Amino acid sequence: MPQSPSLPKYLQEDDISQECRDLLPSLPREQGWVGTSLHLYQGFWVGPRYLKGALAYQRHFKARDPDILLVTTPKSGTTWLKAILFALLNRTKYSGSGLQRQHPLLSQNPHDLVPFLELKLYLEQDVPDLASLPPPRLFATHLSYQSLPQSLRDSSCKLVYSCRNPKDTFVSLWHFANKLRSKDKGENLLQESLDRFCRGVSLFGPYWDQVLGYHKVSSETPEKMLFLKYEDMKENPCANLRRLAGFLECPFSEEELREGTVDEILRLCSFDNLSGLEANKSGKLVSGEENKSFFRRGEVGDWVNYLSVDMAERIDHVVEEKLHGSGLRL
Ligand code: A3P
Repeated sequence: MPQSPSLPKYLQEDDISQECRDLLPSLPREQGWVGTSLHLYQGFWVGPRYLKGALAYQRHFKARDPDILLVTTPKSGTTWLKAILFALLNRTKYSGSGLQRQHPLLSQNPHDLVPFLELKLYLEQDVPDLASLPPPRLFATHLSYQSLPQSLRDSSCKLVYSCRNPKDTFVSLWHFANKLRSKDKGENLLQESLDRFCRGVSLFGPYWDQVLGYHKVSSETPEKMLFLKYEDMKENPCANLRRLAGFLECPFSEEELREGTVDEILRLCSFDNLSGLEANKSGKLVSGEENKSFFRRGEVGDWVNYLSVDMAERIDHVVEEKLHGSGLRL
């Protein structure tokens, strides 16, 4: 049965390509967190609409050496890092008090300024015109490393990866999914969601597979990929922003350091500043998600307010087991 056009786009699950329709029946299927279903494609769980975007992106995206790709696990602070990367790369364009007042981050949501490849660009159009964008082009993705288009892996473009401790990631995802679900479906129960997360069934999960894949790439090719953690960004934002600038070969000059450019960027992109802007308090993405749904508490350790000791131990146990021997601690 065709879905109502009054549904937000992100819930219009029948808006998919024939290729996607043909592929879906052959893929393992689970109940969705936001939409009706998730499907296991190339080892990660994805809803039908985003599968359509992922297929087009894999087929058509041509990376260029100066490109910068932000890769994240959902709910690991993607919105924050999009803002930081945008502000960092455009800092000379918007320096000086007059220009600062016109900064695009003051009037647009970071997801509009740094688009997702599979969730936006290749969803809205099979072959979007990205060739005319000036370098460095800045995009985002949630796809696992082995599913990135070959040209991205072969090019010398830089990847910035961010993840977050699994308990906060889970709690953030649970809240986000409940906000986005259509009201008639009711909320996801916490315990059921935890079961699914611990079985690896989460958006673009299994969580640990994505994290481990990128951790390996960053260990083997540190010049290609910078591995960041939300907790480290929160604990020492200045040092990590400077690290990011160095990695992207646009380090802060002595003059910028003296003038406080690092602090300026961090202030602009802070949770309090971004979440308090009218553009983020109201308004929606083209796909229908409310801008405010990307800002909740923005804290480390909020999981204690939702998970029982048993629930927390369960996540810890699964993740420790999966990460065993990798040298990575989350
Ligand atoms: P919480 O739900 O724990 O508050 P993503 O951007 O990947 O969807 O992640 C969303 C999480 O990042 C949410 O976490 C959100 O509140 C937090 N977040 C959004 N903007 C932030 C910012 N500027 N600084 C720190 N955290 C931020």
